Parts: sequence; structure tokens; C-alpha cells
Amino acid sequence: MKRALISAVAVTLLSAGIAFAEEKGHEHGKMMEGQQMPPEMMEMMKKQGGPKPDNRTELKIPAPIKVMQKGMMRQHMDTVAEITTALAANDLNKAAEVAKIKLGWNQEEEKRCSMVEKMTGEADFTSFGKAVHQKADELADAAKAGNRDKALTALAELMTNCNACHKKFRH
Ligand code: HEC
Repeated sequence: MKRALISAVAVTLLSAGIAFAEEKGHEHGKMMEGQQMPPEMMEMMKKQGGPKPDNRTELKIPAPIKVMQKGMMRQHMDTVAEITTALAANDLNKAAEVAKIKLGWNQEEEKRCSMVEKMTGEADFTSFGKAVHQKADELADAAKAGNRDKALTALAELMTNCNACHKKFRH
């Protein structure tokens, strides 16, 4: 009898434990959806003047195109890393080659950028893109001419150009 009571209590405690764990899991899930925030994060946000809306212009393009565009963006980031590595190693020919081939302005890039511009109706999308790609050509020319300082300046300007578009547009 005593043993039966003990196991009944054990089962009750155990299921309460599972219910609690599920509750916790649920809360965690909610947090992941951005509905709840850890207090430290709230504190951080308060210091920055509270939660703010994302006021950038949304690019109205279908989800699969967003996925493709973000993939291209990560590729751009890789390219910037490759150029930086080459410049750091003073391999100016490599820096020039990567900048020209992977990031230079050409008809294909122009087609890609203007397609997004047409789809979204955002008149300056292509010029933001062109600014980045033309800066890559400038970087390539400087590196090819053996001028690492000038190539590095172009790289800094190129990244500023990347971010000019990120400041204006979002998905
Ligand atoms: C003409 C506009 C434009 C230019 C120029 C541009 N980007 Fe982007 N980039 C975007 C948009 C739009 C997004 C999506 C932002 C969002 O998710 O809200 C994005 C997102 C990204 C992301 C995040 C990708 C992800 O997986 O979420 C990276 C990294 C990135 N860009 C790198 C770059 C780099 C590096 C350059 C320059 C070499 C660059 N971008 C130039 C428009 C641009």
C-alpha cells in the first residue's frame, strides 16, 4: 500500500515535470518568433532608445527570389573577403582578378540589377548596384597598377557602397 502511494506520487511529480518542460519549450518557441525577449535584450534595446520599426523600403519580390538574392549577397561577402586576403598578402594580381571577374560591372550584372529594378519599381536599385561594381573595377585597376593603398581605399569605398543599398532597402 505504502509502495503504491509512493509510485503514485512519483508518477504525478514526473508528469508535472514533463508539463513544466513543455511549458518552458513553448515559451522558448515564442521567444524565437520574436514575441518575447530575454530581459537583458530588452535592457539593451532600451539603451538604444527602445524597439524601433524597420523603416527601410521593402523590396516587393517573391520569396524564392529573396532567397536567391540573399545567396548572391553572401557570395559578395565571400568575394570581399577574398579580395581583402589577397591585398593583405600583397598579391595584387589576385586581388585585381577576383575584383574584376567576380564583382566587376558587365552586361550580366547590369541585366540582373535592372531586372530587380523592374520587378520592384525601385528606380535607384540599379545605380546602387552599379556603384558597387564600378568601384570593384576601380579597385582592380589600382591593384593591377601595383598601387595597394589605392586598392585598399577603393575596397573601403566599395563596402560603403554595399551598405548604402542596405540602408535603403530590405526584404
Ligand atoms: C542594390 C542593393 C544592394 C547592394 C548594392 C548590396 N546589397 Fe547586400 N543586400 C541587399 C538586400 C535587399 C538584402 C536583404 C536585406 C534583408 O534581408 O532585409 C541584402 C543582404 C545582404 C546580406 C545578408 C544575406 C543573408 O543571408 O541574409 C549580406 C551578407 C550582403 N547583403 C552583403 C553585401 C555585400 C558584401 C555587398 C557589396 C559587395 C552588398 N551586399 C551590396 C541589397 C544590396
